[in-house]
Amino acid sequence: MIKKVEVNKLRPGVFIHDFGEGWFNHPFLTNQKLLRSTSDIERIKEYGINEVFIDTKRGLDITDSLDLKDWKKSFGDNEAVVKKITLEDSKWVPLEKEMVRAKEVKTKARSFVEQMNTSIKMGKKIEFEQATELVDEMVDSLARNQDALLTLTSIKNKDEYTFNHSINVAVLMASFCRVREMDEDQTRRLTTGALFHDLGKVLIPDELILKPGRYTDEEYEMMKQHPRFGREILSDMKDLDPEIINVVYEHHERMDGNGYPRQLKGHEISLEGRMASIVDVYDALTSDRPYKTADTATEVLKYLFKSAPDVFDLELLQQFISSVGIYPVGALVRLNSGFLAVVVETAKNDLKRPVVKMIYDIKKDRPIIPRKLDLGEGVGSLHQIIKSESPQKWGINLQEYLTIS
Ligand SMILES: [Fe+2]
Repeated sequence: MIKKVEVNKLRPGVFIHDFGEGWFNHPFLTNQKLLRSTSDIERIKEYGINEVFIDTKRGLDITDSLDLKDWKKSFGDNEAVVKKITLEDSKWVPLEKEMVRAKEVKTKARSFVEQMNTSIKMGKKIEFEQATELVDEMVDSLARNQDALLTLTSIKNKDEYTFNHSINVAVLMASFCRVREMDEDQTRRLTTGALFHDLGKVLIPDELILKPGRYTDEEYEMMKQHPRFGREILSDMKDLDPEIINVVYEHHERMDGNGYPRQLKGHEISLEGRMASIVDVYDALTSDRPYKTADTATEVLKYLFKSAPDVFDLELLQQFISSVGIYPVGALVRLNSGFLAVVVETAKNDLKRPVVKMIYDIKKDRPIIPRKLDLGEGVGSLHQIIKSESPQKWGINLQEYLTIS
């Protein structure tokens, strides 16, 4: 049941259905949230919110008899919620530590995608078990510290776009599912679909995939077949979940019916298809491709937001932005204090205040010894992000600052 309650009656274990304050005017990354601690409640109060909507099916109900200090005991029927909180907390590891494992996952993913493409070209079967194992490792890494794999997706290499794109879309999809609080099985199915989303391109000639200029009408018609080809390749596999196929078949469909291959409209496109279209475009536009240089992540998010809801599902897009942040990991930003900084960790509480590494003094026009700064922790108005900047414009190679060895 959805009901309105006063903020001072909230306690950990309650699920916020809606803050009733619009998307930006509350301290959390998502508009829906399970309250995990009393500090979550303090943060809501700090934002001056007096009432919220709660969902008693997804979390605890509010009754006056419960003892705040003893909240864990009060869960009763909601043991699963307690378990989820405890599990998630116990999985977390620092970024530096998770980066080592994330790099291994990325290397493994790279060789899997390469092998998969060769297998398809040779008419062999896809090693589905390997894909499942890989997806498990991705989902686990994100649960330990999502910024590790997200950092690696932000490092783009023009020559490896085709390989990296499949991996990046999978990582971004898994992170998107986390923000939507989807269950682990569904997260795995959607992430697997994302890993496979472009596999139909293997059947399209390389000259076309790598063509630097614009496609002729005939070439474009050929390219537009890749979701259908992908579906056909997967249809040879027995008992494959429809959600996996939907990601592959529908990732180029658009809300206004101007997508392809079937020109589906609105909710004719499955949830997973609508999610995949956002993730796919986000990674494509933030990457250097054979025919176009990358846009900054912030520019791309703005573009996506402007295009929605005609092109993308607006509610899903807002959730996606919550998963990567307004200033995603890997973005170069300008601070009001006169420094350039690179975003190294997603914002914990406030989307506009991620953890950054200051790297360049604009007034003195020179690099500085990098200094990490959590913009959400006690820096007040001293260091605030004004806007995102293009690394090319400043001649900055962000990879140097993002790769933690
Ligand atoms: Fe595609």
